[in-house]
Amino acid sequence: MASVLLLNGPNLNMLGKREPEIYGSETLEDIVGRLKKMMEEELGGQLEHVQSNHEGVLIDAIHQAKGVHDGIIINPGAFTHYSYAIRDALASVALPTIEIHMSNVHAREEFRHHSVIAPIVSGQIVGLGSDGYEWALQALVRKLKNS
Ligand code: DQA
Repeated sequence: MASVLLLNGPNLNMLGKREPEIYGSETLEDIVGRLKKMMEEELGGQLEHVQSNHEGVLIDAIHQAKGVHDGIIINPGAFTHYSYAIRDALASVALPTIEIHMSNVHAREEFRHHSVIAPIVSGQIVGLGSDGYEWALQALVRKLKNS
């Protein structure tokens, strides 16, 4: 049974209230609830979720995933663009990881075009809104089954 850690970085707790024209009207609770149901009922696995506005909390959660979870889905929020520490943490545990962004970061401000995380993850899902989390989960579970 696959076990996946879902990580959401800073400001993602504000989904639903935060710039709805970019991020939509669903709350993080709605999205995570949907994902947990999908994981348990359709994909036959389990999902743990951690959201934090603090870099160190996310890093600790990544370290603790080793030996506990089979893979990671991460939306690092703005840490995507500059956190070498989160990148190093992901590299250190070396678990299959999917990076996800709800918005199309490439169609937004220049500073969002670069991800310091991208080179060390299995793949990226960008610009598909909250559905992107579902695609990420399906892709990761399929990858884990095939490996
Ligand atoms: C985001 C994109 C980031 O640039 C931004 O800082 C976020 C959310 C996204 O999901 O589109 O907080 O990761």
